Formats: sequence, C-alpha cells, structure tokens
Amino acid sequence: MGRCPGCSEWGSLVEETAAPSRGGVVGVVGGAAAKRIADISADDRPRATTGLVELDRVLGGGVVPGSAILVGGPPGIGKSTLLLQTLDRLARGGSALYVSAEESERQVKLRAERIGTSHANLFVLAETSLESILSSIEKVKPAVVVVDSIQTVSSTLLESAPGSVSQVREVAGRLTAYAKANGPAMFLVGHVTKEGSLAGPRVVEHVVDTVLYFEETTGHSYRMLRAVKNRFGSTNELGVFRMSDDGLAEVPNPSELFLAERPTNASGSVVLAALEGTRPLLVEAQALVSRSPLGTPRRTALGVNPARTSLLVAILEKKAGLALADLDVYVNVAGGVRLEEPAADLGIAVAVASSIFDKPVDAKTAVFGEVGLAGEIRAVTQAEARLKEAAKLGFRRCVLPAASVKGLSVKGIEAVGVKTLDEALQAALPR
Ligand code: TYD
Ligand code: MG
Repeated sequence: MGRCPGCSEWGSLVEETAAPSRGGVVGVVGGAAAKRIADISADDRPRATTGLVELDRVLGGGVVPGSAILVGGPPGIGKSTLLLQTLDRLARGGSALYVSAEESERQVKLRAERIGTSHANLFVLAETSLESILSSIEKVKPAVVVVDSIQTVSSTLLESAPGSVSQVREVAGRLTAYAKANGPAMFLVGHVTKEGSLAGPRVVEHVVDTVLYFEETTGHSYRMLRAVKNRFGSTNELGVFRMSDDGLAEVPNPSELFLAERPTNASGSVVLAALEGTRPLLVEAQALVSRSPLGTPRRTALGVNPARTSLLVAILEKKAGLALADLDVYVNVAGGVRLEEPAADLGIAVAVASSIFDKPVDAKTAVFGEVGLAGEIRAVTQAEARLKEAAKLGFRRCVLPAASVKGLSVKGIEAVGVKTLDEALQAALPR
C-alpha cells in the first residue's frame, strides 16, 4: 500500500517479517498442567525499597521481585539518571545490573560519578543484542536489572530494525518472561517520541506489570513520575523530583512547590485540596472569564477535563444564577498538574465565580468537593487527609462538603461544611 489508511501519509509503511516460530506446533500435547488454586504457593518475597521514597510510593511500596516495570518518558527527562540512582541503592541488597544500549561504559561511569554512585555490587553492561544481554544476566544473576532502552536493544532472531514495533515487543516480552521465570526485577526504559519514528512504550504496556511515566512540569526543573498501570499497587500515585547537579532530588512537599508562585489577592485563583493517589496535594486552580467575541463562547480547560469544565459552567449558570452565556471561560491548573478526581469540581467552580465577580478568595482558604448536576455538593474521599495538608501549609479555613465534615476536626483549621453550590460560593467568596 502506498498510502497509510490510518494517518494518510504516503510511503510511510515499513515491511516487517513475522517472528520465527518458537517450536510450538498447534495441537501438540505437553506444556504446563493446570493446578488447583489451593496447591499454588504465593511466594511473598518482600519488596525491595529503592531508598527513594517518592519512587517507592509510585511503585506501591517498593520493587516486587520478578516484576517488569516500564519507565517511559521523553528523551532527556532523567530516566537513566533515576534508574542508576535506584540501582545504586538496590545494589546494597544484592547484585544489580545496568544494561546500557545507548551509552558506552565510560558515559555510564561519568554519570555515576556525577551522582556519586559506585557500589561494588553494581554491574554495567554496554550491549544492544538481546541474546547477549540475557546470557550476561544469566552469569551475573542480579536481583534487579535495568535495560536502557527497549528501543535500542534488538533480537538477532528478527530481521526488522531496532525500535520497530516487532523488535520492541519481542525485547519487552522476552525480558518480562525472564523476570517472571527467574526472579530479578526488570526495569525497562522506553522513550516516548513525538515523531513516532520509534515504536513507543505503549506497544508494550500490556506485557509488563507496572508502567510509570516520567513527565516534566511546564517550564520547571521539576519532574513528575506517575503510575498508569500497576499490578502491585494503586495507579495515579505521583512522585515529584527535581533535577539537580548531582542527580534527581526528591521533593517531599510538592504542595509548597505548586503554591509558591500563587498571586495574592487576585480574583480567579483558588487553592484546592486534591488527592494524587494516596497523597493529598494542594494546587492552585485558575479561571479567567472574559467577554466572548464569538457566537459560541469558548470553554478552554488545561489540567482538568474540558467536558467536566463545561458541565460545571452549566451548573453555575443554572443553579447559582451566573450569567456565563456570552462569556469565554478559561480554566488552568498551575504548575502543570493534571486533576482527574471529582473533588476538584468545587475549586474550579469557585475559581470561575471569583473571576466573574472579580472578587479574590481569601488567601488562607482552601476548597474541595464534588459538584452534582443539581448543584449539590457531594462528599469526597479522604477529607481528613486533605484538611490536614491544608492546615500544614498554613490555611485557616476550608470549604468542603457538609457530609464530609461530620466528626472531622483538625487543629488550626476551620472546616466549613456546605450543601449546595450557592452556600459554597457564599462561604468561599466575600460578598
Ligand atoms: P538522562 O537521565 O540522561 O535522561 P534520559 O535517560 O531520560 O534521556 O538525564 C538528562 C538530563 O539531566 C541531561 O540533560 C543532563 C541532566 N542532568 C543533570 O542536570 N544533573 C545530573 O546529575 C545528571 C546525571 C543529569
Ligand atoms: Mg537515557
């Protein structure tokens, strides 16, 4: 085919040969026998802690032996740095192998010197052939392996080029199978490329146990590590790091970071107490409402779901009587944070109202809560954790769902329970 039916690009199709058969003939007897579930022993070898609290949390409490973990992200974000730091710590509990298919041994050594890594149990292998890598792993018998990256490693059994879909699948599949059978934890690095010239980590997401993505917050040296799939823990956990001169440093209190540049006494800015995985996080939601030159006014949302934002605008119109029909509404979450939970609703609604009335929200007041279509404020999970985080950062007042207030008392902060959107706007905005 000359033209790709998917993207309409001409001459972009590349021939790939099928993977050679691994000896299995269809219909042949043999292979594994089914066992009674009662006879299977769940070996619960303890998780290994990486020494980086932020990474451990995202992994769900440490590295599970025998699991495969994909670490994806754009080039230059710090994947190699993070994993080399991790291996240095993990090497204290058993040997660790860093396979570099991109950099020479010397380059790895230079990076290791920069971040102060030199554990005797840390082995380095500069190699691109999957078969040689597997035989090296057999010899070293490490407890943990990093393969950097799956797009530059290739199997000699396949004719297609490194980085092609079939190679990336084969490499990830065989390394994952090795980890499962033999027990080392396997970290696989995958580049996310905009051009799409390399097969992205997405093609192997289903093969591995855990998928972590490394993202940059816009315009900062901060990096966020997010779990998007985790067979051994919760997803949506967030780890925050800062790139420093000697490697990645943990940012233990990201709320402070996200609020650092908050404008004081500006309308349209609200601090909302969100939850990222199990961690409470205070972030600033901003809204700007302006007269629309268009027949259909714009609803633009960054960092929150645009459909959810349109919904909130409609609720504000109908239930709180705000006239938004001929106004453009822009919503943004500061610091490049993405909010996906309904508890962010109230923050966004208050930000929009604050912008319309041109009245700033009190600097020491935070909000959270889900807004229903009837204009009711609904309870959300972990109200206490959110309230505590707000108190910790010096907030004196918090507007939250009335149903979440019951039996809740946190020192130093007043919990103002609200039942309707009207009540919430009254409590959050000075009249
Ligand atoms: P790197 O880990 O090579 O990124 P990736 O493997 O995701 O491509 O790190 C990339 C950037 O980090 C590079 O531009 C240099 C910078 N860096 C520091 O600022 N401090 C350090 O200590 C190290 C090791 C790297
Ligand atoms: Mg790298």
